[in-house]
Amino acid sequence: MNKPNSTYKVKAYSAGSATSPLASGTIARRDPTEQDVQIEILFCGVCHSDLHSARNEWSEFMPTVYPIVPGHEIVGRVTKVGSGVSKFKAGDLAAVGCLVDSDGTCLECRAGYEQFCPNLTLTFNSPDKHLGGVTYGGYSDSIVVDQRFVLRIPSNLNLAGAAPLLCAGITTYSPMRHWGVTKGKKVGVVGLGGLGHMAVKFAHALGAHAVVFTTSPSKKDDAFRLGADEVVISRNADEMQKHAESFDFILDAVSADHDINAYINLLRRDGNLTLVGAPAKPLAVSAFGLIMRRRSLSGSNIGGIAETQEMLDFCGKHNITADVEVIPIQKVNEAYERLLKSDVKYRFSIDMASLKSE
Ligand SMILES: NC(=O)c1ccc[n+]([C@@H]2O[C@H](COP(=O)([O-])OP(=O)(O)OC[C@H]3O[C@@H](n4cnc5c(N)ncnc54)[C@H](OP(=O)(O)O)[C@@H]3O)[C@@H](O)[C@H]2O)c1
Ligand SMILES: [Zn+2]
Ligand SMILES: [Zn+2]
Repeated sequence: MNKPNSTYKVKAYSAGSATSPLASGTIARRDPTEQDVQIEILFCGVCHSDLHSARNEWSEFMPTVYPIVPGHEIVGRVTKVGSGVSKFKAGDLAAVGCLVDSDGTCLECRAGYEQFCPNLTLTFNSPDKHLGGVTYGGYSDSIVVDQRFVLRIPSNLNLAGAAPLLCAGITTYSPMRHWGVTKGKKVGVVGLGGLGHMAVKFAHALGAHAVVFTTSPSKKDDAFRLGADEVVISRNADEMQKHAESFDFILDAVSADHDINAYINLLRRDGNLTLVGAPAKPLAVSAFGLIMRRRSLSGSNIGGIAETQEMLDFCGKHNITADVEVIPIQKVNEAYERLLKSDVKYRFSIDMASLKSE
C-alpha cells in the first residue's frame, strides 16, 4: 500500500442511494504519489454500466457502495505527474478506462489480462488502496491514476468522441479480435446503443459482413451509415428467419432481459455468441440451440491495458470515434432516463467544463 501524504478536493456528481438522482458535491483525491498521473477530466462518456451501478442493479455480483461517483470513459489533460512517471508530462492528453490498478503479478496480469486480475481496482466502486473507502469515477473534474493504467489518445481523434472508446470501444474490439472477426466473416451486432454502435464500426473496419439487430426501426438508416451491410428488425420473426444458421459470430450488447436463443439459432456450425451486455437477471438458454450445431456461448469483460492502447491506435489509424451527444453534467439524470428508452445516438459524452460552474 502506497499511503499518500495528502489529498485535495474535487467537484463530482454522485448518487447517495439506489433511488436518488446524481447530484453535485465534492470528493477527495490523493495528491499524486511517485507513480501517479493527475488528470483534469475534459470529457467522460455515459455507459449503461454507470446506470446499472448507480441503481445497484448488479447487487448480487458487485454491490454498490454509496455514495457512488460513476464514469469510466475518461479523457483529459495531464496537470501533474509523480517523480517516477516517465510516460506522461503536464500538458499531455491522456485517457483512463474501467481499470485503475491491479496486482501486476498474477497470471492474468502477466498475460496482459488485467481485467481478470483477482485484485483489480475498477475506476469506481472498488476498494481504494490509497484512501480507503471506494474509488470514485470520472463524473468529476480531476482524477489521479497510476501511470500503468493511463492511456494515450491519438492526436487526430475528437476528444468528446474518443472518451467512449475507453469502455464501449475496448469492450467490443476485444471479443471481435479474440473470435477472429475479419474479412469473409458474417458478424451480427445485437442492440444499437453505445457498445453496439462501436461494434458495427469495428466489424466494418475489420472487413466483416456486418448485420445489425435492433428493436428500434428508427435506427435503421443510422445503422447503415455506421457501417452495417444489413439491418434486421429483431421483433420481426420473418426477417430473423432469413438469417438462420448463417453467422460466424454474434456480439450481444443488450442491457435488458431478452431472448438470446433467437440469436443462437442464427449461428452456423461452430459459431459463437458472445455476451457483453450485462442484464441484471439470468438469461434462459436452450441446450438444443447449442448442441445441435456445436455452437458456443461466451462472455467478455472490457479488455487489458495493452489491448486498450492497441484499440485506441487502431481507432487513430481508421479515424474511428463514437457518435456522441455532448451534454453538460447537469443533464446526466435525464441522459439515464433516455438510456432506459434506448434513446441515445449513440453515446452521451459529458463536457466536464460544465462542472466548473457548480
Ligand atoms: N462486458 C463488459 O465489459 C461491458 C462493458 C460495458 C458495458 N457493458 C454492458 O453492456 C450493456 C450495453 O451497454 P451500453 O452502454 O451500450 O447501453 P445502451 O447504450 O443503453 O444500449 C443498449 C441497447 O440495447 C438495446 N435494448 C435495450 N433494451 C432492450 C430490450 N428490452 N430488448 C432488446 N434490446 C434492448 C437497445 O438497442 P436497439 O434500440 O438497437 O434495440 C439499446 O440501445 C449494458 O448492460 C452494460 O452494462 C458490459
Ligand atoms: Zn462501461
Ligand atoms: Zn493480477
